[in-house]
Amino acid sequence: MNAAKAFFGSTIGQKVVMAVTGLILFGFVLVHMAGNLQVYAGPTKLDEYGELLRKAPALLWGARLVLLGSALAHVWAMLSLTKVNMDARPTGYRVETYKKSDYASRTMRLTGITLGAFIVFHILHLTTGTVHPQFVEGAVHNNFVFGFQAPLVSGFYIVAMLCLGLHLYHGVWSMTQTLGLAHPKYDLLRHAAATAFAAIIVAGNISFPVAVLAGIVKPAAPVIAQATAPADATSVRE
Ligand code: HEM
Repeated sequence: MNAAKAFFGSTIGQKVVMAVTGLILFGFVLVHMAGNLQVYAGPTKLDEYGELLRKAPALLWGARLVLLGSALAHVWAMLSLTKVNMDARPTGYRVETYKKSDYASRTMRLTGITLGAFIVFHILHLTTGTVHPQFVEGAVHNNFVFGFQAPLVSGFYIVAMLCLGLHLYHGVWSMTQTLGLAHPKYDLLRHAAATAFAAIIVAGNISFPVAVLAGIVKPAAPVIAQATAPADATSVRE
């Protein structure tokens, strides 16, 4: 018990929490993006995928708990490390290396806060439909398409995905440092890996609003009729 307390109370323990939870969240973002790519395979694919998830509630809720726990632990480790850094910071410094790491951690905080706001909006938008005027329970494809047809919403997603890219880039960079790979021999590889991971996720995710706005991904035909039918004939959330 005391060993665990000492570990989680130390900066190295907090950095390990940050790296491990970052890896879990990163894995989710990658799998989520790959799952959403099914929108290009036809209008029924996303609905089937959503249906599959809802048919396995233990798996779905297990994954939700792991994600929520990871996000909370990630924020806790960030706050603890920020406090340690602030307590240890000398006043009136002018050293270049401090400026560099300050820039990275400021970027991480800013993009992290934007991502937190994005995740809350995103769940209210595409999972609960609270902020989505045309939301229909289970119609994942059409919720997706009608959701991104609003340019302001698409714009917010695109800005949030650019923040996600910066966050992932710096995240992979410092995670590999925590894992002991910060060596001039590996720096080029670390830089390439961080850039590639961030670019794949950003390009994949930004393609969704862009494809809808460009008319490449369209609503599923039967529900077009449903959505344009009189209000009492639609299955829009009661
Ligand atoms: C443009 C990019 C994205 C698209 C098109 C998208 C699409 C979706 C859709 C359609 C759902 C609802 C799935 C369903 O109800 O079956 C969903 C849920 C969700 N998304 Fe995304 N997503 C994107 C980016 C992200 C990112 C970057 C994150 C995390 C950082 C994220 C986190 C979540 C979470 C936590 C849920 C709720 C899952 C649940 O508990 O049911 N999404 N997303």
